Amino acid sequence: PGMTRVFSGIQPTGEPHIGNYFGAMRNYVRLGEQYGQDAIYCIVDLHAPTNPLAYDPATLARLTFDMALANMSVGLDPEKVVFFVQSQVREHSELGWIFTLQTPVGELERMTQYKDKAGKLESIPAGLLMYPVLQAADILLYKADTVPVGEDQVQHIELTREIARRFNHTHGQTFPEPKAVLEKDALRVPGMDGQGKMSKSKGDTSTMGVLESMDSIWGKLRTSPTDPARVRRTDPGNPDVCLVFDYHKLFSDDTTLLEVADGCRTAGIGCIDCKKRLMTGIERELTPIQARASELRARPDDVLGGLAHGAERARAIAAPVMDEVRSKMGF
Ligand code: ADP
Ligand code: NA
Repeated sequence: PGMTRVFSGIQPTGEPHIGNYFGAMRNYVRLGEQYGQDAIYCIVDLHAPTNPLAYDPATLARLTFDMALANMSVGLDPEKVVFFVQSQVREHSELGWIFTLQTPVGELERMTQYKDKAGKLESIPAGLLMYPVLQAADILLYKADTVPVGEDQVQHIELTREIARRFNHTHGQTFPEPKAVLEKDALRVPGMDGQGKMSKSKGDTSTMGVLESMDSIWGKLRTSPTDPARVRRTDPGNPDVCLVFDYHKLFSDDTTLLEVADGCRTAGIGCIDCKKRLMTGIERELTPIQARASELRARPDDVLGGLAHGAERARAIAAPVMDEVRSKMGF
């Protein structure tokens, strides 16, 4: 109710994992079914170079392509929604600059993500500080009011609201104040190494890739930790503290879920067999996605064409908003 347009940005940072899939990508598809052309998804390549430790001009185009392909493989339809690459729509940079004019540096220096990333750098690019301003421009350029994101982005969306309020106050009502929507049931998919949240930044041992081969996934799953109190096969275990059971909740049907939970508590099933049953669910979920990915990889022009078409539609929405902003600014 009251939600009219969805926007979300996707960073082109390597192959997505099942945390991204359950936490974000699947919801993009679902919201796309609901909002159609008012679901706007942008691969935010202009943001990538703000982190000099993770940016390489030689690989950016490939990472952008791979991220588009992965999202299309899980069901994002570039004909149904608006799906495009940020750098192909120049208005993002222009609105980003205009917002920097009114945003206090002190507000940006308080951002948690900025502090985390800046702390690892000897010389801090101004772009890293401006990152959330460009993000505000990404969203407000389409006058979007709904932003599906992870928990880590809530502070940035609050800043976006502040930027919208400030612009509206100075120049007259122009932008909505967008709201973050969180996916409560998949907020935090744990990593395969048992070391907290699954994340690309923690490397290969943490992630289960959406496009990773079943052999490779099994290689990690076979040795992944389970309930530490269950030492021998004959010890009963507690599924509520088991990483593998967390994955069962994402991949397995209700019958399997009940059977492995009961089997674990009664020592009726061993951890390896429980993991094998999980593989069945993983295969069922990921194999069709991987098949679509190989089909699409053989037709790169379809991927690039879909994105180019998306950029045209994005520009058609963005251009009049920029005209309005320019005129209000006195340009
Ligand atoms: P990563 O932390 O692996 O670099 P990103 O920051 O690119 O992932 O996140 C992309 C999207 O996936 C965001 O909406 C984020 O909230 C979501 N996401 C990332 N990791 C997880 C996870 N382990 N569980 C649930 N959602 C996640
Ligand atoms: Na992250």
